[in-house]
Amino acid sequence: MSTATSAPEAISRVRLAMRAAQVPPSATAALDAQAKALITQGVDVINLTSGEPAFPTVEPAVQAALDAIAADFTRYTPAAGIQELRSVVAEFLGRHGTEYEPGQVVITAGAKQALHYAFTTLVESGDEILIPAPYWVSYPHLAALAGGTLVPVQPAQGSGLKVTADQLRAAVTDRTRVLLLNNPANPSGVVYDRTELAALVQVAIDHDLAIISDEICDHWVFGDAAHVSVAALGPEAAQRTLTVGGVSKTFAMTGWRIGWVAAPTPVAQAITAIQSHTASAPSSISQKAALGALTADLTIELERRRLELDDRRRTTIKALADIPGIDVDGDPTGAFFLLADVSGTYGLTLAGETITSAEVFAELLLTEANVAVVPGADFAAPNHVRISYTVPSARLAEALTRIADFVARLGRDGG
Ligand SMILES: Cc1ncc(COP(=O)(O)O)c(C=O)c1O
Repeated sequence: MSTATSAPEAISRVRLAMRAAQVPPSATAALDAQAKALITQGVDVINLTSGEPAFPTVEPAVQAALDAIAADFTRYTPAAGIQELRSVVAEFLGRHGTEYEPGQVVITAGAKQALHYAFTTLVESGDEILIPAPYWVSYPHLAALAGGTLVPVQPAQGSGLKVTADQLRAAVTDRTRVLLLNNPANPSGVVYDRTELAALVQVAIDHDLAIISDEICDHWVFGDAAHVSVAALGPEAAQRTLTVGGVSKTFAMTGWRIGWVAAPTPVAQAITAIQSHTASAPSSISQKAALGALTADLTIELERRRLELDDRRRTTIKALADIPGIDVDGDPTGAFFLLADVSGTYGLTLAGETITSAEVFAELLLTEANVAVVPGADFAAPNHVRISYTVPSARLAEALTRIADFVARLGRDGG
């Protein structure tokens, strides 16, 4: 009989492999957990950390899933996904001018798993992956799990958070293997236009790099911004590009876990082989749900949602512009995030605490004003916080008022 005071499962005699030990929990998840803990205690926290549009899953997806269950469509599917879905995704991607065949599409458990497969398939130990900063928190860890290193390229001051082809080119070394693009971008909401994107892609062509193009937010573009698919920029681009996307953000289906990667045939085949030995295939029911979403005519509903988010985006930008010490950086015309530079509040104090970083700003904002935002350090944007404006309009308005009041309360004297 054990005399240990801790439960046996709390004690580990298992040594973690280096690749597991080096992966920290995500900063986004930590802040989200802190906000949720406060909510559980009854605190009225407004959570602006969310990575998903606050809309319900589109109805045809729900119905298709119920039909799939009723029809006992509950077995393994082919490793690359059901044929109808691969065909519909190839067509769906074609609306941006790409020319993928169904056989080049692999259905995965969310875009995140597609990215994991893409890195696993392309990256050798010691390879470098170039990425314009700021970038999404998961990329460095996905790169590291594959043995590679993410090499961020910082935008110049005043560039609107966009990097140039010359900056990318200067960062290429003989170990560079992949250019990773994410457009529209998380966390900045910045959208590169066709000319800017083509210039970045030309660097990959000139240096014979593969491109992983994460286009998960392709539906969410506002104002004059338009989504441009990297693989539609010509055959030279298409032949080296893995296009990653999914239903998560467009159809409000984050929990259904359906994404995809479309790629040159040998790459799609390699990814299918990896998936066949790991996940087997994504959920059969969720694949049917995705098929339901993609085959229904949702033009009006999706446009209504897009306009609603655009409205929230404009409200947020306008309100933040009136708050001294906070500057929205770049022109956030995509996704549902923006980055606010909070360095103008450094040195100010509240409740005996001095703001010295975006982390302290975010912590104080949560504890003193009950608004949760994500500090930008893990996005390579150390002076910024990421604000997700997808929450319903009334809550968003309340959050923006709280942020303004919070900043107004900051003082130089500990007040
Ligand atoms: C840039 C980016 N790529 C990929 C993903 C993952 O998408 P999914 O939920 O389909 O795995 C996210 C989700 O937050 C994201 O922001």
